[in-house]
Amino acid sequence: MKALITSGGKGTRLRPLTHTQNKHLIPIANKPILHYAIETVAAAGIKEIGIITNADSDEVPRAIGDGSQWGVKITYIPQESPLGLAHVIKIAEDFIGKDPFIFYLGDNMVVGGVKRFVDAFESDQVNCYLTLAKVKDPERFGVPEIVDSRIVSVEEKPKHPKSHFAVAGIYIYDYHVFEAVNNIEPSARGELEISDAHQYLIDHGYQIGFSEITGWWKDTGKPIDLLEANRLVLEHTDPKIEGSINGKSSLAGNVSVGKGSKIINSNIRGPVVIGENTVVENSYIGPFTSIQNDCYVRSSEIEYSIILNKCKVLDIGIRIESSLLGTDVEIVKSEDKPSTHRFFIGDQSRIELV
Ligand code: G1P
Repeated sequence: MKALITSGGKGTRLRPLTHTQNKHLIPIANKPILHYAIETVAAAGIKEIGIITNADSDEVPRAIGDGSQWGVKITYIPQESPLGLAHVIKIAEDFIGKDPFIFYLGDNMVVGGVKRFVDAFESDQVNCYLTLAKVKDPERFGVPEIVDSRIVSVEEKPKHPKSHFAVAGIYIYDYHVFEAVNNIEPSARGELEISDAHQYLIDHGYQIGFSEITGWWKDTGKPIDLLEANRLVLEHTDPKIEGSINGKSSLAGNVSVGKGSKIINSNIRGPVVIGENTVVENSYIGPFTSIQNDCYVRSSEIEYSIILNKCKVLDIGIRIESSLLGTDVEIVKSEDKPSTHRFFIGDQSRIELV
């Protein structure tokens, strides 16, 4: 079995973070989202992975490399323009050949791995295996209609969903899926929809297996999804202290502190991950917070947030919560008069004040 992982798209819903980096490289618990996808398929015993990239950027190949760090071989497959997920499968036909493959959307995350689905696909001898997740907003996803324990239809982003399930971005196929993607037409939004490929398979009598994802999964398409994915990953992270903790600091719960980092006179309540060469001084860092490398937090409080490399949060009188700070962001107290709020912010940023 091979794997095909997506890493393309423009990540418009995650701007401004995605103005400067591919959304699949945004860190969750200080590790790029895409690493989780690669680790998950590698853990299922898959050795050959195709990664679909934006044709106009070598950012992902440069960041991920040839796969040797995971013991897999990665082949990059550029997609000229975002013409849909079924189009992704179409352009990967040469790479996949006649092998069965797992198609993994690089912005989806699942605990408990995917081996159980690969095993079910093989033992049930189906042509296509779908994973379903119960969601509050099925109209955002591909939605199955289930009758007598069989999927009888799949609709993409329906106005009136026929179940409360989303088809999650982890699919397994045999080579018949190429017949489907080569015979469907673009949708109203001009894309070859993966749900239309599934409907084609159903209409042409192919066998569709499925199971509900019992762990968790997240479509990390919006900022709040990133914070939630961060929370869920941090809940399963083991503590590791490599930096230094000053005597007057207190750590509770699962807390990781990377090499060269210093926690000085601060209260850290896990689960929290702090990267390398970051200083936290006279501060409170609350649960479900990730702080990356080379940051400086002084006399401030941060909780349930993601802070990327090289940020400075200094002497802030209010608690920062449910926040995402991109690379090299500064939030600092100003002593200047008149005492006003001053902003120097890039395009498509968002600030909430109390
Ligand atoms: C895509 C698929 C959709 C699926 C979802 C899972 O949607 O088109 O069927 O349920 O991924 O993440 P998108 O996230 O591209 O809107």
